[in-house]
Amino acid sequence: MSHIAYANGRYLPHHQASVHIEDRGYQFADAVYEVTCIWNGLPVDHAGHLKRLRRSLTELRIAMPCSEAAITVIQRELVRLNRLSRGTLYLQVGRGVASRNQPFPLKPVKPSLVMVAKHGTGPSESTAQTGVKVTVQPDIRWGRVDIKSVGLLPNVLAKQAAAEAKAFEALLVKSDGTVTEAGAANAWLVTKDKTLVTHPLSNHILGGITRETVMRLARAAGYQVQERVFKLDEVLAAKEVFLTGTTTFVLPVVQVDERIIANGSPGSVSLDLRQRYLEYVNALDETAWSPT
Ligand code: PDD
Repeated sequence: MSHIAYANGRYLPHHQASVHIEDRGYQFADAVYEVTCIWNGLPVDHAGHLKRLRRSLTELRIAMPCSEAAITVIQRELVRLNRLSRGTLYLQVGRGVASRNQPFPLKPVKPSLVMVAKHGTGPSESTAQTGVKVTVQPDIRWGRVDIKSVGLLPNVLAKQAAAEAKAFEALLVKSDGTVTEAGAANAWLVTKDKTLVTHPLSNHILGGITRETVMRLARAAGYQVQERVFKLDEVLAAKEVFLTGTTTFVLPVVQVDERIIANGSPGSVSLDLRQRYLEYVNALDETAWSPT
């Protein structure tokens, strides 16, 4: 099956799609991105991803490359051309191409827009039902990780450390013991009284779209949710730990390095939330493409 990507106005075979060597995204990580899950051919939380894209671009003073309606048209076309049923759409917007110099180009340049479709989503259902291991890594990222920038080298190193530790993810911990999030997912714990806890929105975490949806589903199901800072000690002693993200959905964590969480099996709250999330994505219809 042909694999088609989109690069600056053109749909091209994946192996032919490329960007300029002086693209500022390439030289300075001066670009932002979004990863949207495509489930049964439909986007999960499309409006939420567009909203966060807008926010990231505004924070960096990069212009929208085109209207949100036009972005949606390109995304739908990529889903169609790639016959994408379950997978992801990667979207990257950069400040554009200019002769290398750190400040923004004096004469504004056209923002770049690239999209790539990928078949397959995150871990299998059986992995989710077994739960995963994470490894603790220092959070050495910059002070604005709320902006979904492509400057991901600390995440790359943390995820590589996780791969080498045969762990699914890296749990990122600040020097004072605060757990911020994971390499590419948000982190949660469940207390003994079944309260859900996750790091509050701030410059220190990415405001996950899945985090927001899971929070809404959890509250609707009657769970208490606390957005507060928590430390590694609390994670190790928690009743349950789980991750949320576009590619992970709700993923139970049963081991942190050599430490087993609770009895080493996914807890009932994590599995219940995963089930609710699956019901949510399975119920999507064509209105999922509506940008508002
Ligand atoms: N990552 N935190 C970080 C650091 C992330 O990179 C991600 C997503 C999340 C979860 O956000 P969301 O629920 O909006 O996917 C949290 C994407 C999937 C990635 O970089 O591939």
